[in-house]
Amino acid sequence: MAPGDLDDVFASRRLGPGRHGDRAASVGEVEAPAPLSYVFASPVATERLTLRLMTADDVNDVAAYQGREDVCRYLLHGPRSREELVPKIAEWGAATRMTRDHDYLQLAIQLADRVIGHMFLRIASAESLQGEIGWTLHPDFFGNGYASEAARATLRLAFDDIGLRRVRAELDPRNDASIALCVRLGMRHEASFRQDMWLKGEWADTGVYALLVQEWRAGARDRRARDRS
Ligand SMILES: CC(C)(COP(=O)(O)OP(=O)(O)OC[C@H]1O[C@@H](n2cnc3c(N)ncnc32)[C@H](O)[C@@H]1OP(=O)(O)O)[C@@H](O)C(=O)NCCC(=O)NCCS
Repeated sequence: MAPGDLDDVFASRRLGPGRHGDRAASVGEVEAPAPLSYVFASPVATERLTLRLMTADDVNDVAAYQGREDVCRYLLHGPRSREELVPKIAEWGAATRMTRDHDYLQLAIQLADRVIGHMFLRIASAESLQGEIGWTLHPDFFGNGYASEAARATLRLAFDDIGLRRVRAELDPRNDASIALCVRLGMRHEASFRQDMWLKGEWADTGVYALLVQEWRAGARDRRARDRS
C-alpha cells in the first residue's frame, strides 16, 4: 500500500468530531480504529428501492427466490423451504447491531410492495474495521441494475455510517454475474484460492474482491462529477 493511501484513510477519520473522531484512541502519529457503534434503525431509500429489516410477512417473497436451485447454485446453502425460512427471517429481522465480530445485517430489497432479494453485510473484524458483503436477487429482477443500486446503498452504510475501512466479497469464480457486479461497484480482484472449500459434494474455489474506504470515496466523487457534467 502506498503511504498516501494511509494518509487518506486517517485524514478521512479525523474529519472533526464525527461519528468516531471524538472517541478515537491515539497510537503514535496515527489514530487507532475506534470502536464501532452502529445500530440499523430505519429503512434506507434509494432511487427505486428500499432496504429494510425483514418481517414475518416477507416469507413468501423470500421463499420465491431462496427456494430456487438456480439461485442457490453458487451460495453456501441449498434451496430453503418456507418452514426453514420462518425462524431465519425472525432472526434476520432482529439483527440490527453492527459493533462486534460476526454482527450482520440481512436487509430485504423491496421494490414497490415486493421483496425481490436481499443484501448481506457482516463485520468480519470489528477491531480492524473489516466487512463482508453479499447479495441475492430473484431472477425475475436480474438485469435491471437493482443489485448494483442496493449494493451501493449497502456500501454507503458500511463505509459512511458504520465506519468500516475495507469491505470484501467472497464468491465462486464461476459466478460471472456476481463478479460483474463486483467490478461495477469498483471492487478489485484481490485473491483467488484453489479448492479451499468442500461444498455441495465438490472442492470449490474462492475469489475475493474488495474495496477500501478511500476507493469508495474517490468513486463517489467521480460519480458526482459525472452526474454534474
Ligand atoms: C449476483 C446477482 C445479484 C447479480 O444480479 P444482476 O441482475 O446481474 O445485477 P444488477 O441488478 O446490478 O443488474 C446489472 C445488469 O442490469 C443492467 N442494467 C440495466 N439498468 C441498469 C442500471 N440502472 N444500473 C446498472 N445496471 C443496469 C446492466 O447492464 C447489467 O446487465 P448485464 O448483466 O447484461 O451486463 C444475481 O445474479 C443473483 O442474485 N444471483 C444468484 C445469487 C448469487 O449467486 N449471489 C452471489 C453470491 S456470491
